[in-house]
Amino acid sequence: MNAVSLLAEIGDVGRDRWRGGYSRHVFEPAETELREWFTEQARRRGLDVETDRNGNLWAWSGMPGPGAVVTGSHLDSVPGGGAFDGPLGVVSALEAIHAVRGPAAVVVFAEEEGGRFGVPCLGSRLLTGSIDAERAVALKDPAGMSVAEAARSAGLDPARFGRDDEALSRIGTFVELHVEQGRGLVGLGSPVAVGSTVIAHGRWRFSFSGQGNHAGTTSMADRRDPMLPAAEVVSAARRVACRAEGARATVGRLVPRPGGTNVIASTVDLWLDARGGVPVDEIVAVAREAAAAEGCAVTVVEESASGEVTFDAGLRRALRSVLGDVPELPTGAGHDAAILAPHVPVAMLYVRNPTGISHAPEEFAEDADVEYGARALAAVLRDLST
Ligand code: GLV
Ligand code: MN
Ligand code: MN
Ligand code: MN
Repeated sequence: MNAVSLLAEIGDVGRDRWRGGYSRHVFEPAETELREWFTEQARRRGLDVETDRNGNLWAWSGMPGPGAVVTGSHLDSVPGGGAFDGPLGVVSALEAIHAVRGPAAVVVFAEEEGGRFGVPCLGSRLLTGSIDAERAVALKDPAGMSVAEAARSAGLDPARFGRDDEALSRIGTFVELHVEQGRGLVGLGSPVAVGSTVIAHGRWRFSFSGQGNHAGTTSMADRRDPMLPAAEVVSAARRVACRAEGARATVGRLVPRPGGTNVIASTVDLWLDARGGVPVDEIVAVAREAAAAEGCAVTVVEESASGEVTFDAGLRRALRSVLGDVPELPTGAGHDAAILAPHVPVAMLYVRNPTGISHAPEEFAEDADVEYGARALAAVLRDLST
């Protein structure tokens, strides 16, 4: 077995015939199947698998911590995502863990993408106490099922969710390998890079309500259409982010209800993903003004927010001294590693993605780079454990 054939084994689990790519949402059948697959793979390697209080999976080599070298990533995906975001770090970890001398673990974090319940890195946020457990278990998926209900159906006790000092204290160092998610490594002549920073990012839900009505009989003057202020938010997000160097703003999800071609919507919910210094207040002001002009109501809720993270300078030097002349890269993508970084020494390794595309089916890594990444991870883990 090697990392390439392990990825091939994951293969079509959760293939999304409608959107293309893969949709693997936490505690739903595809992600559950991957957890079972991971457990089987870990046991075959002689690792002891346990699920922590917050639904994260741990596969231990030797006695659990303290001071363990931990590596891993996630198995959930965005809707219609690529094959590498998450799984690449997990399969590389399974291949690399035997290089560690002393206690070591592969971790699979739950709901990294926030693709089901809306808050990214939910498992690592719960573990570190950076989200209130009561708030977390009440989060709902689009069908109205809560985290508490989904956790119970996965055999977990939501009453035990929350900061887990014991699990945290076992981690001596955490290294996450991840596919590079932009064009950062294209043209640099290196299959891998060491992570430097993760930009600040957050998510806001805008909910507009107006008057549902008939598309043909309602005069243009007589409408309170929540799609109008929603559209203003989409354009304002682009306009405002273009003014701030390095900022990114996206509306990737917009839900009109009831959702009919010949129906003026009664409500529209949209989600703003804003990163790297977007002045969100300005977008909120546009939303309020546009809603008032259309006779609609609007509420805005911050669903998650994470500050900029710089990975441990000493660890970055250590990785570069093992790997030789590799570049360092900042990223606009969020990671569980960044949630752990204020608590334990953390490093990230990125593997080249020649398409520069991620969160889409075109995300890619060459087999040779996948193998190179897994070997690089093994070399790093061995060095950290000696
Ligand atoms: C997760 O990959 C994110 O950065 O949104
Ligand atoms: Mn990821
Ligand atoms: Mn992702
Ligand atoms: Mn991510």
